[in-house]
Amino acid sequence: MCGIIGYTGTANAIPKMMKGLSVLEYRGYDSVGIAAERDSQIQIVKCKGRIGALEEKLRDHPIEDCHCAIGHTRWATHGGPSDKNAHPHRIGAVTLVHNGIIENYKDLRSSLAAKGVNFLSETDTEVAAALINDCFFHLSDPVASIREAIEMMKGAFAFGILFEGYPGEVFAVRRGSPLILAHGSDGYYLASDMTALLPFTKEYYALKENQIVRLSSGGAKIILSDGSKVTPEWKITTMTPESAQKGGYSHFMLKEIHEQREAAVKSVSPRIDKNGLPDFSSDGIDKDFWKKIKAIQIVACGSAMHAGLVGQRMLEDLAKVPTTVHIASEFRYHPPMLPEGSLVVVISQSGETADTLAALRYAKENGVPTLAVVNAVETTIAREADRRIYTFAGPEIAVATTKGYCTQATVLWLIAAAIAHTTGKLDDARARNITQSLLKDVPAAIEKMLKLENQYHKIARNLINHEHVFYIGRGIDYALSMEAALKLKEISYIHCEAYAAGELKHGTISLIEPGTPVIAICTEKELFEKTESNIREVRSRGAQVTLICREDLAIPADSADEIVSLPTDSDEATVFAAILAIQYIAYETALLLGCDIDRPRNLAKSVTVE
Ligand code: G6P
Repeated sequence: MCGIIGYTGTANAIPKMMKGLSVLEYRGYDSVGIAAERDSQIQIVKCKGRIGALEEKLRDHPIEDCHCAIGHTRWATHGGPSDKNAHPHRIGAVTLVHNGIIENYKDLRSSLAAKGVNFLSETDTEVAAALINDCFFHLSDPVASIREAIEMMKGAFAFGILFEGYPGEVFAVRRGSPLILAHGSDGYYLASDMTALLPFTKEYYALKENQIVRLSSGGAKIILSDGSKVTPEWKITTMTPESAQKGGYSHFMLKEIHEQREAAVKSVSPRIDKNGLPDFSSDGIDKDFWKKIKAIQIVACGSAMHAGLVGQRMLEDLAKVPTTVHIASEFRYHPPMLPEGSLVVVISQSGETADTLAALRYAKENGVPTLAVVNAVETTIAREADRRIYTFAGPEIAVATTKGYCTQATVLWLIAAAIAHTTGKLDDARARNITQSLLKDVPAAIEKMLKLENQYHKIARNLINHEHVFYIGRGIDYALSMEAALKLKEISYIHCEAYAAGELKHGTISLIEPGTPVIAICTEKELFEKTESNIREVRSRGAQVTLICREDLAIPADSADEIVSLPTDSDEATVFAAILAIQYIAYETALLLGCDIDRPRNLAKSVTVE
């Protein structure tokens, strides 16, 4: 969490900082600040609040044109959101911004305090500034002091640093947290994420672990751990500035909900061969790889973990591979048996989630092959996994994931089909049915569901009057319910629980009162009868029921107060149509409640702390 940015060059740095920070706000948005160097003087302006608060503060404390600056938008970890805890932090000759957590900051702080450092904030970041400054005091060299200081730090960090006496230069280093360098016609940049730099340039380099970088208007030098210097090998991103803008939609979330038609196709089309069969050779994965898999452990957080539950169902049903889904933060404390033939699949939209990364590293340390299903390219998880399959969803800005989750599910579905086909569990015709359905029926179903906006609005109008909502479903619909409940909770702040429909009667049904909203999902024909019994159980206790179900079911008129019909062109189409409905219902609910949809309170999109 937290977003950092830096620039040095020939243009005015301040508008660049403001523009980049406004894009980075999705990473955290409880305080914001910049430090600018002009005529060898470093000026810091920072405050609690969002970019608008900083703009206001800059009106009272203007920074004159300057060509070298760093900036930060914060998601509080050590010390609450406040002016004094906002970054940048300055100690002595060092001014820095930080994304990550210094785990041993307490010990470092005590020893630095014993040397006389007077800390003004509660942050671990100020301790990092003090430590680098302490090293600089006796080494008098920025790169050497950064190197010495990071040797003493435990945890994750990406720093952007200004040193007094080094005008026009920005230094940076990363370990665990992401950092991108970029080269534009008017100078050099750094940022936590390339999307923040798209307004300025497309040429980038993803800094590697422990690499230190020194940027000036004349160039970028990477200093390796042996002290040797290399020039970055710039790459060109395929992302466009428009992809990180709202494009006429009122929210990024709405835009991203709509983008799912296209994203679903992009995620699967490169993996379908000319005969219409699954083929991951463009990802460097051949049939032999799939054949060797005897068991799969899926590890992820939040919605990515929910996508894993959809994948688990397909991997077991289609490919007959025993699959377990783990919450990444729990994986190491109760590590599963990882026998010969195991594959650990980590799923992550951002490619930077600390818990998922830790689980990936655990698997690697234990010699288990790893595969990452990841959206953001060249991120730590993508780089460290033995193999990676990109979901190609494009930049996702809204904190609540939609297209990220959708494409994780499409890719996992296709992986299941690939394993099933390679191991003879699916013949060509059935495998082709699945690929064609993912390629054609799914986007068509999404398109159809996008037109039901008025119905989602009507459902939302009812939900906003309640404090508690339940989603229920069986089989894959239980997995969808979990995602639906998370979506509603995270953006509307309405308490929502997902229950396996058959499990309600073992306790939770006691919470059903007259009027309690219960949303039942039914994408599986064979399960409808049983789910319908559960619906009757809650209806007879006064629940208001919304049914999101297949359009080909004969639904008794008194089964539900509202029915959202799902297209049934194929199983895949029905499931992804339901996904669209649950996302849109959450969106409409949050909209009616006036919530900050793209930036829900207390959350951040990229969670780089464990
Ligand atoms: C955060 C986001 C969730 C996301 C989870 C995992 O909590 O708010 O929407 O599902 O992280 O993120 P990842 O980037 O690993 O998919």
